[in-house]
Formats: sequence, structure tokens, C-alpha cells
Amino acid sequence: MIGRYWIETWGCQMNVHDSEKMAGVLEGLGYRLAPERSAADLVLLNTCAIREKAEDRVYTALEQLRPLKLSRPEMIIGVCGCVAQMTGEAVFARAPFVDLVIGPRAVSRLPDLLGRLKDERGLIDTTLYQDSVLQPDQPVRRGRTKAYVTIMEGCNKTCTYCVVPGTRGREVSRPLDAVLSEVQQLAHDGFREVEFLGQNVNAYRCPASRAGLGDLLRGSSRVAGVKRLRFTTSHPLHLREPIIRAMAEVPQVCDYLHLPVQSGSSRILARMRRGYDREKYLDRIDEVRSAVAGISLSTDVIVGFPGETERDFEQTLSLVESVRFDQMFSFVYSARPGTPAAELADDVVYGVKVRRLMRLQALQHEIQLERHRELIGREFEVLVEGPSRRDPQEWAGRTTCNRVVNFSAPESGPGQFVRVVITAAGPNSLRARRLECGTVPGLVEIA
Ligand code: 5AD
Ligand code: SF4
Repeated sequence: MIGRYWIETWGCQMNVHDSEKMAGVLEGLGYRLAPERSAADLVLLNTCAIREKAEDRVYTALEQLRPLKLSRPEMIIGVCGCVAQMTGEAVFARAPFVDLVIGPRAVSRLPDLLGRLKDERGLIDTTLYQDSVLQPDQPVRRGRTKAYVTIMEGCNKTCTYCVVPGTRGREVSRPLDAVLSEVQQLAHDGFREVEFLGQNVNAYRCPASRAGLGDLLRGSSRVAGVKRLRFTTSHPLHLREPIIRAMAEVPQVCDYLHLPVQSGSSRILARMRRGYDREKYLDRIDEVRSAVAGISLSTDVIVGFPGETERDFEQTLSLVESVRFDQMFSFVYSARPGTPAAELADDVVYGVKVRRLMRLQALQHEIQLERHRELIGREFEVLVEGPSRRDPQEWAGRTTCNRVVNFSAPESGPGQFVRVVITAAGPNSLRARRLECGTVPGLVEIA
């Protein structure tokens, strides 16, 4: 009897979308979503290995599953994603009750593996299949507003701190035609926003026509019904002129860019092998800002990389101060097995790392609040995503510049566009009032 499945997901958008693909494969086999983990016949943990803490969470979840598995030995437990890829066979040593270990590029092999589980246990497939991104998939998307679409997989960069090149393999891009047909299907199904995904999404290159991300954005903008296009994650070296031009010229491409800097110190950037220095990053930001006026920018920063001195860290602070990002994701450096940086002495003591992170986050908090306050009184079009987290009676949506906006509009709902005026600002979200028509009648500035 085919049963019920449950998937838990950690990590990036790629992982979230891989889980949607896994759900598609399972539903294709006749499985149905279980109401909760304990009711499932098949539990897949789609894991992230980017930092040690992310990896630890997987083993915590496995410990919670152990008693369930003891009481129902027929239950299948699978570890998927980047921890599966990085740890391989050793997952079984740490959690012997795991039935299946499957890498992120072997998801399409799930039906075969599940078939074999009838007679065998302890199966593993961590092959970095070259055709993974080329396989047709029918993801089960939970939302109905915004859809992720994988356009390339893998990463050919060699950033010294990062597990991704090891866990996701070499870059492979999907043919432009296949991506465009998926976008058309999504538009037909009512999705209003499409986000193209890839570990190094700027390096996208159609294997047949050699079209790049700029061409893909232009092609997708011609699909009726798709109102917003985004892409992630970008790399400062690969964000070349045709992409920037498409961002400037294609109205559907959102005025938002996530461009990880990692450090403001050229010395540390060289040790990270990022391929650019502080000046080059700042030039790229100037280029983007002059092409797309008012673009909203976010970044990733790692503090406490091996050898980071107080002076290096202050350079990060000064870069953050001068760019004034709209959002920042910041992390304490975590040495990852198998990466070149793990060979370096992890010489910044943990307490110093944490203090640096707190200083950086306090600075960003201030900047974000100031930038949000500058938006009070301005009008935006918001795409409604779902109920607000703070008050389920209200809606939450996003502007094209990726700001979260909460507002009351009882008659609207997910997938709708609503014009609002910003009335108040917090560091992480904005409050707004719905506008009945497109103008702001008698607007009062709120301090
Ligand atoms: N330690 C801490 N943060 C890391 N990141 C990647 N690898 C590590 C690591 N070893 C961060 C980077 C990346 C984001 C997804 O996670 O900032 O852009
Ligand atoms: Fe985590 Fe990176 Fe894997 Fe995404 S690609 S799940 S961020 S390790």
C-alpha cells in the first residue's frame, strides 16, 4: 500500500524548491501529504550543510524520529539534501535507523530507490548526476502566488569557506525553451511572480542557444500574466552588463538584488577566494544603482573568517555603512569539513566572532530602520502573499523591492495586487494603508 509522506526542509530557496520537486515525485507515485510527521509512512529530511548549526539541526530531528521508527519499523526515513551529500554513508553510522540517503542531484532517482526499499534498507545515492536539472519535474508548489524555477544547478566557484561546490557539483544549466515552457505553465496556473534559482544564477547559459540570464529575463517578460521576475543568488563577478541592462529595461524584473559581499576587507576577500576586492564590489554596486534608480539591495556577510583582524572587520562595517543595504543576512564563520578554509587555523575566538556579529547587526538594524522610515508616505503596489504573521486578520505582501508590508484589506487575498501607502516602519517590515484608487488623497506624513 502506498502511504503518506512528510518532508522537512532546511536551507536556501534551492532546497525549498527541491522539496517541492520531491513532493511532486512522491505524489506522482500515489503518495499523499500526511497531516503531521508522526502520521507519515515516509519522512524525508531535506537538509542544509552550510554551517555546523544547520547540520546539527538534522541530527536533532533524527533523534526525535528515533522513537517513532522504533514503534513503527515499516516507516521509511530518508536524509536528503546537502548533509546527505556531504556526509554520505556516515549518516548511517550516526543514525542507523535511517533507510535512505539521497543527494540533491539524485532526487529524480527517488522512485527507483523507493521501489528497492521494499527488499533492502540502508540505500544511498549521492551521485552528482549531470542531467539532474534536465529531468522533467512536476513540483508540488504550496503557494499560489510566487513560484520558484530552477534554471541552473551547481557552482564552479571555489570560495574557500563553502560546502556548496562539493554538495551541488559542477554548474549545469537548463535549456531556455524548457524554462520558458515552465514559466508559461505557471502563468497559466495563475502564478504572478517567478523567481529563477541557481547557486550562481548569473552564470546561467542555455546549453543549446548559449542565451544568458539577461535573455531569459527578456523572454520570460513576454509571457502574459507573469508580473514579477526575480533571480537568486547573484555573484558580483558574474553579474555582467547584459543582466544589469535587462534589470534596467525589463519592467517585470523587480528593483531588488541580492548581491553577497561576504567581507568588506580586500585581504579577507582574497583569503575567501571571492575573485573581487572591496573596490570592485563597490564599483558593481555603483553600476547597478546608476542603471536601476532606487534599487533595493541585500547582501550576505560572514564575520570571523580565519585571520580576520579588528581592522578587517572595521572595513566590513565601513562598507555596510557606505552601501546602506536594505537587508543583510550575516553569519559567524563556521569551518566546514572538506573546504579549503577548514585547513586554516580558525583563529578568531568564538566570543569575538559573536561580538562582531552583534556590532554588525546593530549597525544594519539602524540603517534598515532609517531606510524604511524614508519610505513613509510613499505608494507601492503590493503582491499579497498570505495572512500577516503578527495579525492573521491582516494581509502580508511584498513590494517589487522585496519589502514586507502588512495592511488591512478584508476584500483582497493572496495573488492580488493592492496599492498601498506606507504609514509606519519597523526594521523588518512596513505597515501600510490600502488606497482605494491609485492616488494618495490628503496624505499626512507620519514621523
Ligand atoms: N560559515 C558561515 N557562513 C557561511 N556561508 C556560506 N558558507 C559559510 C560558512 N562556512 C554564508 C555565506 C553565503 C550564505 C548563504 O551563507 O554568507 O552567502
Ligand atoms: Fe544549504 Fe547551501 Fe545546500 Fe542550500 S546549497 S541547502 S544553503 S548547503
